[in-house]
Amino acid sequence: MLIVLILTALAAYYYIPWLKKFIGGFLYQYPHIQKLPGPKRLPFIGCVGDLAGDTTVPLKFWMSEAEKAREKGDGVFAITVLGRNITFPVNGDTLRGWHCMFQYILESPEEILKGKDYDFLEAWIGKGILTLIGQPWRDRRKSWTPLFHFSMLEGYIDTFNKHARILVQVLQDNAGKEVDMQECVKRLALDVICDGAMGVSLNTQLDPSHPYLFAVHDFTYMEQRYINEPQMWIKWIWALCYHRRYKKSLDILNDFSERIMNDRLKKIQAGEVDLTAKKKPLIDHFFTLYEMGEWTLEDIHYDLNGVIFGGHDTTSASLTWIFWALGTQPHFQQQCYEEIKAIFGDEDRDCTHEDMKAMEFTERFIKESMRIFPPIPAVERELQKDLQLAKYFLPKGSEIFVAPHVIHHNPDVYPDPWKFDPDRWYIDEASKRSPYDYVPFSAGPRNCLGQKFAMHEMKTVLSWTLRKFSFSTDRKLLDQGFAIEVICKPTIPVNLLVTPRK
Ligand code: HEM
Repeated sequence: MLIVLILTALAAYYYIPWLKKFIGGFLYQYPHIQKLPGPKRLPFIGCVGDLAGDTTVPLKFWMSEAEKAREKGDGVFAITVLGRNITFPVNGDTLRGWHCMFQYILESPEEILKGKDYDFLEAWIGKGILTLIGQPWRDRRKSWTPLFHFSMLEGYIDTFNKHARILVQVLQDNAGKEVDMQECVKRLALDVICDGAMGVSLNTQLDPSHPYLFAVHDFTYMEQRYINEPQMWIKWIWALCYHRRYKKSLDILNDFSERIMNDRLKKIQAGEVDLTAKKKPLIDHFFTLYEMGEWTLEDIHYDLNGVIFGGHDTTSASLTWIFWALGTQPHFQQQCYEEIKAIFGDEDRDCTHEDMKAMEFTERFIKESMRIFPPIPAVERELQKDLQLAKYFLPKGSEIFVAPHVIHHNPDVYPDPWKFDPDRWYIDEASKRSPYDYVPFSAGPRNCLGQKFAMHEMKTVLSWTLRKFSFSTDRKLLDQGFAIEVICKPTIPVNLLVTPRK
């Protein structure tokens, strides 16, 4: 009896302030949210019924609600899910009379927190570039920006080539067979980011038993459970189901980056690392900031983890969809191949920055692939203040999801939006659109810092793989389903027949 009383008192102490805040917030938001366009929303429970099912359901639901909103001439729709109120813009700023909201959401660095789903990541990426807000974010962004300057990016090209060559070796070993390309590019992207960020070759492409690989996958799996299953937002249910497993992966992830940092610091202190070298991993740039007194060791730790989180799953998802688009559309694959063949001939040489610039069609192909299949399901924000924009009032505490899938399939901007058409990316065509109509890397001053890094990596991978192999499947481009598993993943395995070129 005493134990029950103590547990009840502890639970009340822990949950009552949180519940009060949560219920107070909800009661404030709900009447305003009810006035916004969108599906029927039961109090508190909201659209839980509409979202029940597998991981493909949310995206289908968002897309169909966006279509309904557009048909009625609305610029947003809003949903409620177990007390969370979320508004989705359905267009970029080109939509009639609907300019500033989208811009405001993406450009406001001060008043807007990252969405609630980022809470899960805190223990891994801490207070770093991805999660900071206000002045601390501005300061951090200022230190980061030069690190992805064109001249710095040159320093990573060797890394891209090194790992793309290994991918070629892996594919060669499986030539004539169907290969799970998703698995291949997942390992490649992790190897690239760990090498580029920490200067460490994990080599998971050749040795998939590395514990870091398992920990990253396990952590992402649990993040997906957390995001998709609202009961997991209740701390004790989460603790009961996943606490030990979560802690185990987290320890591996944190211990690994900490060990790399400590080793690097010792080498720097022993004069074994040249911090002024032109080509160096991100960690050396971070240590330069540390030596200048701008960053702490904790800043380095969190931002190393942040870049690994932000840079690998996204790039691997993007590459997965690109390979799917190549395998299902042999005519476009042939065009990419001919362009690459014209640049490299029969040479076995590395891809350079000049080569990347010459890959004009391939770049349009990548952009179109990222339009139809954007890897990030939503850029999330939580409003810290009420926001009145045009005729819509968005209450404090509610969230905004900018979903690239929704924006990229707007027929007013992209006629026949499911048609894969790289010609949309001729400069003349693209310049007719607003930058907010294409947001795979988000937009505005808080856009993706690593987008050029990712583009270079993807082009290098295509330059190597298409030179050596063709990829095929009997499936069609739109046979695929879209599952939200933290990022957007295909529902059908991307198994492509890999045939060496003569
Ligand atoms: C195809 C691959 C990638 C995609 C689709 C992508 C997408 C995004 C998106 C949508 C954001 C905005 C997130 C938000 O505001 O909530 C973002 C932010 C960021 N990305 Fe990427 N990313 C990719 C690759 C990379 C790579 C390779 C790196 C690093 C090498 C990177 C580093 C970052 C950083 C540091 C931020 C935070 C910027 C800030 O908050 O100021 N990303 N990315």
